Amino acid sequence: MSLKETIDIALPKGRLGEQVYDMFERAGCGCPGIREDSRKLIFENPETGMRFFWVKPSDVAIYVERGAADTGVAGRDILLEYSPDVYELLDLGIGRCRMCVAGKAEQRRGAETLRVATKFPNIATRYFQGRGRAIDIIKLNGSIELAPILGLSDVIVDIVETGTTLRENDLHVLETILPISARLIANKASFKFKYEGISRLKKLIAEAAEGGKAR
Ligand code: PRP
Repeated sequence: MSLKETIDIALPKGRLGEQVYDMFERAGCGCPGIREDSRKLIFENPETGMRFFWVKPSDVAIYVERGAADTGVAGRDILLEYSPDVYELLDLGIGRCRMCVAGKAEQRRGAETLRVATKFPNIATRYFQGRGRAIDIIKLNGSIELAPILGLSDVIVDIVETGTTLRENDLHVLETILPISARLIANKASFKFKYEGISRLKKLIAEAAEGGKAR
């Protein structure tokens, strides 16, 4: 596929990025050298007119919202937490997991203020507000599961994928908030001015996503 203008695509680094890039390759949107083990961050395929950047998963939406990338792939968790002003084009059906409230099995659900440790304060606040529950948010940046074990919080609001992290730390899902998966997003101005290229990319990725389901 050859696009008239270059489409800049922000991909999430790490676990999700591998699956996302596999899907791009199946869609015929691969890029030479991108899988090589290097510190290089930008990869261009002149034949397809696509340029890829690897960025931190939580930063993809910022690059796309501000137009540094035309499109990108971000988890629904990030989109709900930061509410970036972007178009959500497609559910890729990968990176599936759940946003959950988790804690110790004996967690009591009394009337007192619940201390909630999380990387997702907005999602957690909205969820508990909707249930009329008073909470105290403790914002952490990683290893959230430590918080209830050490008594820093009563519960956590976090992503559960395989459930291994909870299991290995003797914690349990107490409530499921919502399902999460990866989404193809686009900058609003780019979608207008690079409509043809972005639409073709969306179509190719949608076909690869469908093919992935059938396999
Ligand atoms: C995420 C999440 C959980 C874990 C869930 O953490 O915050 O800790 O993955 O996955 P599981 O259910 O398959 O065990 P991540 O690996 O992103 O690292 P972090 O602790 O630095 O947030």
